This record gives sequence, C-alpha cells and structure tokens, in this order.
Amino acid sequence: MPTGVHDSAFIVNAFRARHPQISADPHAALWLCERHEHWATRYAQQVGQSEVLVHVLRHRFFLERLKAFLAATPDAALINIGAGFTSYPYLIPPGIPCCEVDTTLTVAFKQQKLAEFEAQGLLPARPITFLPFDDLNDPAQLSRLLAQLRTWLDGRPSLVLLEGVLFYLNLSTIENLLAGLASIQATGDIVATTSFRPEECQKAMFLRLVSYCTTDYQQAHFSPTTLPNRFYRQQRGYALLEHRNCFDLQRTYAPQEHLGVAEDVLEEDLYVMQCT
Ligand SMILES: C[S@@+](CC[C@H](N)C(=O)[O-])C[C@H]1O[C@@H](n2cnc3c(N)ncnc32)[C@H](O)[C@@H]1O
Repeated sequence: MPTGVHDSAFIVNAFRARHPQISADPHAALWLCERHEHWATRYAQQVGQSEVLVHVLRHRFFLERLKAFLAATPDAALINIGAGFTSYPYLIPPGIPCCEVDTTLTVAFKQQKLAEFEAQGLLPARPITFLPFDDLNDPAQLSRLLAQLRTWLDGRPSLVLLEGVLFYLNLSTIENLLAGLASIQATGDIVATTSFRPEECQKAMFLRLVSYCTTDYQQAHFSPTTLPNRFYRQQRGYALLEHRNCFDLQRTYAPQEHLGVAEDVLEEDLYVMQCT
C-alpha cells in the first residue's frame, strides 16, 4: 500500500512505462519495481482502466510543448513543480537548466537513484536543481519556494510545469502560486497545467478517485480542487494559449487506442498559459 500522496508519482510513472511509444518516455521503465506495478494495477482497478492512457497522453503533450518552447527559446529553463519521477531533463537537449520541486522523500529517492543510473551509464548526467517542499499548501513553504525560484531563475525565460499536482493543492495555494509565478516570469514565458473542471465531480469515477486518495494515499478529509475553464481565461498576468482534453490528445497521439465513453474517463484537462 502507498504511504501517502507522494507515492502517486510511482503510480503515474508506472503508467507511462506501460506505453513508452505514446508517452515518449523510454526512461520510465528504469523506476519500475514489482511493488509499484502492483500499486498501479490496483489504482487502475479501483479508479478506472482509462486512467493509464490518460496519464500517458498528458506526458506526451507536455513533452511536445516543452520541446517546441525550447526550440524557440534555447536559453530557457524548466521548472517542474510536483515533478515526481518524470524524466523531462533527459528528454530535452542537454544543458537546459532544470529545477524539480517535490516532497523531501521523493526528492531524496530520486537524487539517489539518478546518481545510480548515471553511474551505471543508464542515463547521461543532467544539471538538475532539486528543491524539497513537503507541503506547498503551507503558506510559509509556498513563499519560500517562490523566493528560491526567483533566485534560481535569475531572469531567464522559463516554462513552469504543474502536471497532476493542482488536484492536491488548495485554491488559495494555486492562486498565490500563479500570482507569484507571474511576478517571477517575463512576457512570453509559459505555465502549463492539468486540472479537473468542476463538472467532472459528477462522475462516479471522480468519487472513486477521491475514495482511493482517502484510503490508499491516506488523505483524511481529502477535498480535491477543481478549476473551471474561466479560471485560466481570467488568470491575471497570463493569456490562455491552449486548452486540450484527453480525447483530443488520444486522436493526436494514439489514434489506434480507445479511451472509452466520457463517463468512463476522468477528464483532467490541459492548459498552456503565456505570461503577458
Ligand atoms: C500524481 S503525482 C504527479 C507527478 C508527476 N508530475 C507526474 O506527472 O508523473 C503528484 C506529485 O505532486 C506532489 N505533491 C502533491 N501534493 C503536494 C504538496 N502539498 N506539496 C508538495 N508536493 C505535493 C507529490 O509528491 C507527487 O510527486
């Protein structure tokens, strides 16, 4: 059984490893072990089988957008908040400064394993700065994160990724995080996110996900955050460049696959905003 929400990162990574051609993440398999495979299988059984492909597709989308941004802005940096076991620094050109934010447990394990993978020649060395923050819902930790990101970024262009994490953050945390990012980023910089629209709460699958988080991630009194499309359209300091849904992504990146009917798919939409 997972020990907390930080273990969600192992499950999502296991999903990516099941479809490496679609996720375009050949490194996800490096992190696999029997225990995490078992968690991933149980999650898909409890919540819904379409969750596997949905997580794989979102990774592919963000990787494509990140590569396009870096091709147009080669001096940019990547900031990945709630990075988990994603491998973006190894999927983009070498030399791009990368900063990954996650819990102390996740960061410590990832650093140790990356050092092993690099020593074994399984991964090349990459310049990654790790910032551990156990609870970004704590306003003091969020302020510290924003101060550290400002210093680390040092005026460089950036893409900030929030993939699969807003669900776990309070609305006030999300608002303060985006306001803080708007004060750090410059015109043309990007924030890319995933979140559920409030309508998704009506689905039985959403209730199963909340129930799974309460039991398996041990999130007592868990109250997930959902965001309407207008939240992004009205975000101060940003213009909404792109809004995608997993059904569009399936047609684009995996036309041979089937997600199923909308009732059997948890639609975590994807948003790309540009700093104005
Ligand atoms: C579902 S995982 C997604 C990981 C990665 N972005 C991916 O797509 O594979 C959510 C991540 O957010 C992190 N996270 C969730 N709530 C958090 C919080 N309150 N403070 C810091 N990190 C948090 C977890 O540790 C986990 O790595």
